[in-house]
Amino acid sequence: MAEKKTRVKSSKGTEKKVTRYTYENIKEPRTPETGHTSLLPSDEQVVTLPMDNGWSKAIHVGKLKEGDERPVVVDMDPDADPVLFWAGKRNRREVPVLPLQRIEIVAESRIAQIIERARKAADEKSGAARQGHLYADLEKTLREADRSKRIEFYTHDEGWKNKLICGDSLQVMESLLHYEGINSKVQLIYIDPPYGIKYDSNFQQRVDSTKNDEANKADDILTIKAFRDTWALGIHTYLSYLRERLYLCRELLTASGSVIVQINDQNAHFIRALMDEVFGVANHFATVVFNKTTGFTDQRLSGVFDCLVWYAKDIEQVKYHQIYQTKAIGLEGAGVYTRVELPDGTRRQLTSEELDRIDSLPADWRVFSLGDLGSQGAAKEPQPFEFNGNTFYPAANNHWKAKTEGLRRLAEGKRIEVSGSSLRYVRFYADFPVSPISNIWLDTNTGSFTEPKMYAVQTGTKVVLRCIAMATDPGDLVFDPTCGSGTTAICAERLGRRWITCDTSRVAINVARQRAISAIFPHYRTRNGKVSGDFEYESVSRVTLKSVAYDLEPEKVELFDSPKVDKDAIRVCGPFEVMSLGRYSIQDWKGYAVTDSLDAVGEPAKLENYLNVICRLYRKDAAIQGANGLVHAVAETDKVKAAISVGPLSGRVTAKQINDAVQDALASGILEVHVLGWAFEANVGEVKSQLERRGKVKIELIMIRPDTLAEGLKATQPETLFSPLALPDIEIETKNNGTSLITTTLRGVAVFDRNTRGTGYKSADSGYVSAWYLDEDYDGDCFVDCQMFFDFKKAPNLKATLKADIDPQEYKLQTTSQPFPIGGYKRIAVKVVDVYGNESTVVRDLG
Ligand SMILES: C[S@@+](CC[C@H](N)C(=O)[O-])C[C@H]1O[C@@H](n2cnc3c(N)ncnc32)[C@H](O)[C@@H]1O
Repeated sequence: MAEKKTRVKSSKGTEKKVTRYTYENIKEPRTPETGHTSLLPSDEQVVTLPMDNGWSKAIHVGKLKEGDERPVVVDMDPDADPVLFWAGKRNRREVPVLPLQRIEIVAESRIAQIIERARKAADEKSGAARQGHLYADLEKTLREADRSKRIEFYTHDEGWKNKLICGDSLQVMESLLHYEGINSKVQLIYIDPPYGIKYDSNFQQRVDSTKNDEANKADDILTIKAFRDTWALGIHTYLSYLRERLYLCRELLTASGSVIVQINDQNAHFIRALMDEVFGVANHFATVVFNKTTGFTDQRLSGVFDCLVWYAKDIEQVKYHQIYQTKAIGLEGAGVYTRVELPDGTRRQLTSEELDRIDSLPADWRVFSLGDLGSQGAAKEPQPFEFNGNTFYPAANNHWKAKTEGLRRLAEGKRIEVSGSSLRYVRFYADFPVSPISNIWLDTNTGSFTEPKMYAVQTGTKVVLRCIAMATDPGDLVFDPTCGSGTTAICAERLGRRWITCDTSRVAINVARQRAISAIFPHYRTRNGKVSGDFEYESVSRVTLKSVAYDLEPEKVELFDSPKVDKDAIRVCGPFEVMSLGRYSIQDWKGYAVTDSLDAVGEPAKLENYLNVICRLYRKDAAIQGANGLVHAVAETDKVKAAISVGPLSGRVTAKQINDAVQDALASGILEVHVLGWAFEANVGEVKSQLERRGKVKIELIMIRPDTLAEGLKATQPETLFSPLALPDIEIETKNNGTSLITTTLRGVAVFDRNTRGTGYKSADSGYVSAWYLDEDYDGDCFVDCQMFFDFKKAPNLKATLKADIDPQEYKLQTTSQPFPIGGYKRIAVKVVDVYGNESTVVRDLG
């Protein structure tokens, strides 16, 4: 172990130092090829995010005295539009930038393999056979719908992989800009932020239920609904949070790009003002209201709409596809369609009773309106036109919309009628039975898109699909910094767009991953075999005065939200990668050590502060004392004395750290060691058991919530920020019938139980495991999903897809894998996700 020495004053006043250390004899694991990650220096980088929008000629409002560094001064240009002020508004802030680290990949070859397995299983098994593994939906669809269908998935140019990222959106965006080269590349950013001030309204406790249940505390998995009750300064912090992210969105957007923020009535005005400031008033593209199911009350007016506030990066260049809606005749402007042609050819005015039910008249009644046959501007010559034995002229200062020959053709086609003393054009409703969509969407709660919710604050797909269809083309990049259950990613995948999404919640990431890999989509026909070459779209004909007058083919209007479906194929989600922020490959064996020696200087305060904050958040109830070596603090209550060791801020806790911390604790006579980490190396479970078997020491491995140190969120109960790492218990069996094949069985998971202060055991089929994944040939670094098994208790996709009730038995979690051969690394990894979104991995050598 090599040390880089620094000196700090401990909180008790005695000199202590915190040093960064590295284990130099550890061989560097393979660095995943994520962007330029491997080329970067290992030191942490911080960038300054400017947010003054270039108002440098500004007058300074409330400027602080010289030398006061607090960033609370906001520049303001008196000639510019009004802007909002709030407590803590500032014009720049520092953001740490970390690279993205690929921790898991759902690769093309694996999808192909899994499709093959699903197809084989569908062929082999009878209708009632149960599956419970990845693409169970797919298999069942094949079995019950049409086995001959092809199964497709979209891939993108230049090997692009979609990204599901666990991390704070601010850091994720900064990382995308800084390391992944995604600045000015995103076509649409869809943001569905927590709506307001109550942060906990967005909190979901479990992967498998949208209900938060306080009784669940008994389950000893540290989740309580109020994990963060409010933003630190309420609306003030909320506005700072949004503004910082909006500035970063502006950097990510391409010149023709759009950002759409979904928000409710309560805060829509703030969002408008904020976005005016960040994107410019002129770039406001639209504000849409759409209806939602909740919000009905009999106390006052029911709040039944939410808003989409849409800004263009540059209104002059914005990409926009007009979307059409089947128009209700009655809604097409009051009184427009007031006449009818009956099946026998007679025409008359509709009666008032018929007008009241205009949208339900018999199908063979041709409703029409009378439009202008003349346009403004006098013709050079008089334009007499003979019709039904009389001569007509255009109105004063008008000319006919068609030449004489065209007018004759209109007359032959019964497209002209006399009204009073003038001629009118007969426009049938069926000439163009759709109308451009407006900014009021009343259809967002209806139809097949009202799917069951997997996430408490899940958005309906209809809204998001429509936004994507309007603002992007197939192959374009869509980003959502508020992933939740991954609605934007699912909609982007459905419409062949590339996507990136992130969330701080592990529950959200796991719900989204599960939703993506079990989804089934219609397969759309592309123009040239590639998604980036665009889809073929359904279209409607538009019969116009001109097309009738000159006998032209009616114009074809493409429906950009209705790509043509290839009925011989079904489609599954394409490849994607699951990522997190960090420098794991570099930092894995880096940690922090404490000693009494006084001979060093450097970055001490920062390190000590980090360790201090984490230890104090973790054990608010205990007296915390300084410590030595890899024990960073000792927490003591009247019942127990425990050593605490904290993992690196942007790396994984290694087996070596656990081992060294235990040795340091034992040297001081402490028999309980809690190792806290943001992420853990895959084999830590093995090390924990070995150490526990050897001596009397008890070890707890504790995961830290990803947003624990996020700025602006109130500090809160430790039990909501820290949760025990569950350790998978697996069994491997080798079948030797010519070639040796392996099967893996998940027996259960060992979980630390706070009440008994011992290890509890949850069997695999206890309902505690939400999903498990198998990497058949683990390279020691990046987990590849080869086999995946979900607890399909709810089978929401399946039910919606097949419109059938499903026997829950059929979708119980399968606990034994399909047989597979030993791979080149001779090593497997099993990842388990519990119902609270916590992940843990175990690795086994196959010898
Ligand atoms: C309203 S929900 C989005 C729901 C999503 N549209 C869906 O359909 O499921 C907001 C999400 O933003 C996440 N979130 C809040 N603050 C965040 C941050 N700073 N970085 C990343 N995600 C954040 C929350 O965890 C929550 O899942």
